[in-house]
Amino acid sequence: MDFYDVVKIRHSLRNYDPNRKVPREVIERILNAGRLAPSAVNNQPWRFIVTDSEKALKDVHSCYHASWFQDAPNVLIVAGDYDKAWVRGDGYNSLETDLAIAMDHIILAAANEGVGTCWIAAFNPFALRKVLKLKASEQVFTITPLGYPKEGFKDDKRRSRKPLDDVAEWI
Ligand SMILES: Cc1cc2nc3c(=O)[nH]c(=O)nc-3n(C[C@H](O)[C@H](O)[C@H](O)COP(=O)(O)O)c2cc1C
Repeated sequence: MDFYDVVKIRHSLRNYDPNRKVPREVIERILNAGRLAPSAVNNQPWRFIVTDSEKALKDVHSCYHASWFQDAPNVLIVAGDYDKAWVRGDGYNSLETDLAIAMDHIILAAANEGVGTCWIAAFNPFALRKVLKLKASEQVFTITPLGYPKEGFKDDKRRSRKPLDDVAEWI
């Protein structure tokens, strides 16, 4: 698909068919787009964790209580390590930026594959830390379902955007 078409069709999907898993090779292509994302000094401080077992899926479902999320047939967690990210002289750590870029690559690649995603930050970070057994230096800023809508679901609630003239400046 043309890149700008991918950007236009990507949107947050909040309706998932629990019985329709995304094939593993499709998920691998999507993760590969995340792997190719830029990161500060190319440190690549990320881990892409995909639920595979019913137990892991149930545990991750319990970390975000939206009813539609309980139907997600797979969840991808983008985790990272502060100790592996670049640190600027003034103390700024690039981890959150690096992980956001990787996740953006991932949700665009998913859109290109016809796979639905929804960037989720409002999960319970304490519960998710426990499920993933994260080290003290590791953090998760975002997770997303990977899946397809239930049959017949009409996705007509696209979010509008501010006009370009309101956000772009030419100086
Ligand atoms: C940093 C960030 C956090 C978000 N957290 C949530 C969330 O916790 N739950 C949710 O349903 N959507 C979440 N979203 C999705 C936004 O609501 C959505 O991207 C926005 O409304 C624009 O809609 P669109 O993605 O369909 O274009 C988040 C998006 C971003 C970028």
